[in-house]
Amino acid sequence: MNLQAPRGTTDLLPEQALAFNTLEQTALSVFGRYGYALIDVPTFEQLDVFVRGIGQSTDVIGKEMFFVYSMHAAEKLAAGEKLKSDERLALRPEATAGVARAVVEHNLVPPGGAPVKFWYAGSMFRHERPQKGRLREFHQIGAECIGAAEPTADAEVIIMLMRFFEAAGIPRQAMRLLVNSMGDAECRPAYREKVREFIRDQSELLCEDCVRRAETNPLRAFDCKNEICQKVLADAPRLSDELCDDCREHYQQVKGYLTAAGLSFEEAPRLVRGLDYYTRTVFEVQVVNGLGSQNAIGGGGRYDGLIEEFGGKPTPGLGFAVGMERIQLALEANGCARTAQLSPQVFIIVVGAEQVPEAFAMALMLRDANISCELDHQARSMKSQFKLADKTGALLCVILGPDELARGEVKLRVMGTGDEQTVASDTLTETIRKILL
Ligand code: HAM
Repeated sequence: MNLQAPRGTTDLLPEQALAFNTLEQTALSVFGRYGYALIDVPTFEQLDVFVRGIGQSTDVIGKEMFFVYSMHAAEKLAAGEKLKSDERLALRPEATAGVARAVVEHNLVPPGGAPVKFWYAGSMFRHERPQKGRLREFHQIGAECIGAAEPTADAEVIIMLMRFFEAAGIPRQAMRLLVNSMGDAECRPAYREKVREFIRDQSELLCEDCVRRAETNPLRAFDCKNEICQKVLADAPRLSDELCDDCREHYQQVKGYLTAAGLSFEEAPRLVRGLDYYTRTVFEVQVVNGLGSQNAIGGGGRYDGLIEEFGGKPTPGLGFAVGMERIQLALEANGCARTAQLSPQVFIIVVGAEQVPEAFAMALMLRDANISCELDHQARSMKSQFKLADKTGALLCVILGPDELARGEVKLRVMGTGDEQTVASDTLTETIRKILL
């Protein structure tokens, strides 16, 4: 049987790899203006980092983890021995927990100082049922702002996210920005209890999953995709009615700053998001067409208890992550995907195989001069070489013939116009540079 990429993974072939690279460049440029520095944390961590960070009762931890076993650990398990915590490893389902772990481990939050701001890009792993826009290995770009409690920080992060999507090419009218407040340790427990009661009362109308969730993590029921459950839960108590004074004031101010920035958003009182670390502001960006049920291209929120969870001093924080595959699908659905081709600037063509050594040396010389360059290693007919040059999208062709070479010259053709000129070999680099400019 032929070997294939595992289910739920994709090979990033050059065009998509380049598109992802372009998204990362966009992030570098947009996030840089807001003071975010690039960070790279491990792709796998101790399982406890994720369990502690994301929460045992979430689907991400309870159902979707990929575990990592070294040979040594697997042998211990097979022999019925227990693994130590640093032998129990898992692939990261997201990067916020890893970044928080790193912030505490390296003592990165300056006491009383300005927040630290990081962004990252990389693969995440969740064992979900694959479908369009839902993979088991997918790619995120994310940003975390750690050390700021004020509502301006929430608004700044949300505005930066929307600026990023716009810079990536997604039209504003193709996106919905949803916001909510999840309250905090003060007001959420009582609300959670109310939702639990509501689910118990309505248990005959709700799916098994929702009824089960009522006991472990009742707010999770709001994520249920079952239409009947959604209808029933529409009458559930709303957290916005139960927020404590501080959370209500914080939420009001965040909304005020968003409005002042001219950013339109919708309040989504049922938006709870699938990770346990959120407190207060949560948000999600959905695209209105083309992605079906997997329409969230990004989301995030505040996590004021997370750093403490990892043993750090109480430190507020917030952030978001976007799904790169889903952004690509959204760009395609809206006809805004930029097709990128890595074209050489120059293609070298030989009249006969005798000129191959000169063509080879010239290609090296041009590349060393920072000009991208290709040649046909097989030195086929000139017609085939021109066809190939055309296919690669080269802007210029250098043609090496025996007579010109004997005179210390080459021919230079502009592919778009067909204009040709004879150039002295020793001024070729200069001439090409001028034309490319
Ligand atoms: P999340 O909502 O789980 O949040 O994921 C963020 C984005 O990653 C989603 O909106 C979606 O675009 C993409 N995504 C998630 N799962 C998949 C999948 N299976 N296949 C393809 N794309 C997917 C987080 O991960 C949080 N860490 C965000 C955050 C950062 N909150 C605070 N800071």
